[in-house]
Amino acid sequence: MSETIDGLFARTEDFPNPSAQARRAALVGLDDLIERLVTDAVALLDPSVMETWSVDMHGEVIPAVRALLDRTPLFVFAGDVGVGKTEVAEVIGQVIATRTDSDVTLYPLSLTARGRGAVGEMTTLLTRAFERISADFAKARRTDGSASGLGILLIDEADALAQSRELAQMHHEDRAGVNALLRGIDGMRVDRLPILTILCTNRLDALDPAVQRRAATIEVFGRPNHAQRVALLTRLLAGSLMSLSDIEALADATAETVDRPYSYTYSDLRQRLVPEIVLAAYRQRGAVDSVIAHEVLGRTAPTRPFGGATR
Ligand SMILES: Nc1ncnc2c1ncn2[C@@H]1O[C@H](COP(=O)(O)OP(=O)(O)OP(=O)(O)O)[C@@H](O)[C@H]1O
Ligand SMILES: [Mg+2]
Repeated sequence: MSETIDGLFARTEDFPNPSAQARRAALVGLDDLIERLVTDAVALLDPSVMETWSVDMHGEVIPAVRALLDRTPLFVFAGDVGVGKTEVAEVIGQVIATRTDSDVTLYPLSLTARGRGAVGEMTTLLTRAFERISADFAKARRTDGSASGLGILLIDEADALAQSRELAQMHHEDRAGVNALLRGIDGMRVDRLPILTILCTNRLDALDPAVQRRAATIEVFGRPNHAQRVALLTRLLAGSLMSLSDIEALADATAETVDRPYSYTYSDLRQRLVPEIVLAAYRQRGAVDSVIAHEVLGRTAPTRPFGGATR
């Protein structure tokens, strides 16, 4: 299942694997969140886990557990740009695989990259994706209800699905994409396929209510707070000349200010600021220290929140 599938998914990924483990380990400040998501995912995907728990606790499978198992295994990850939605969605399979000792396969589908053009194109893409993953997993459920392998369908950059309602009314066919999505996730639930769907969007407010209603979990990701910035910067700048108090000061300087009511994102720190600091030090043939860090900071502004005039 690891080959590129008809050009449909960018690439599938089988867990566990060492590179996913490294990516998981590099995530800072999200341990509790990941723990909670993994527990939820396992409970949703493998009924035997909840049934065993219920029998232990109550002597039988209580009706409330049935109600839980009827929920749709759909997570919605929402929030600003560069705050870890895609990263968590892409590595959560690693944690699930290790926890449950089963094979997990990720099917990543990016609607921005693939389905931009016509609305019909996105609809076809979604329909084909659900067909393909359903076919792969139709046989994955054992007769006792446990799963021999789990799948994660990642629908990333799903903003194209998150149309404002007025717009959706104006352009009737815009709902076709949402309908294809609903058909797909409902179909997998009815067939009890062991597949978790994760949908990432910057625009929760514009995500169709019918999609929101089905989600077992809606997680809103935020920019890192002071402690999370300290933790990330400490890790990224280990071995440099920056002391803990230098790092604290840099974390302070990357907080929101009166003039700029938003802080630096995870990706601002990790993919822009720190690499720029390293390059600047290298160009000057100097060491990475506090002086150069603040010099670079002065010309590296944080990303504006999604929905601002520019990104
Ligand atoms: N908690 C974290 N710890 C460490 N690095 C992080 C964390 N969250 C995000 N990052 C870094 O920021 C980068 C951007 O994260 P990611 O791609 O998941 O953002 P996103 O929320 O999906 O943003 P977008 O809405 O733009 O797609 C990641 O590649 C990773 O390097
Ligand atoms: Mg993303």
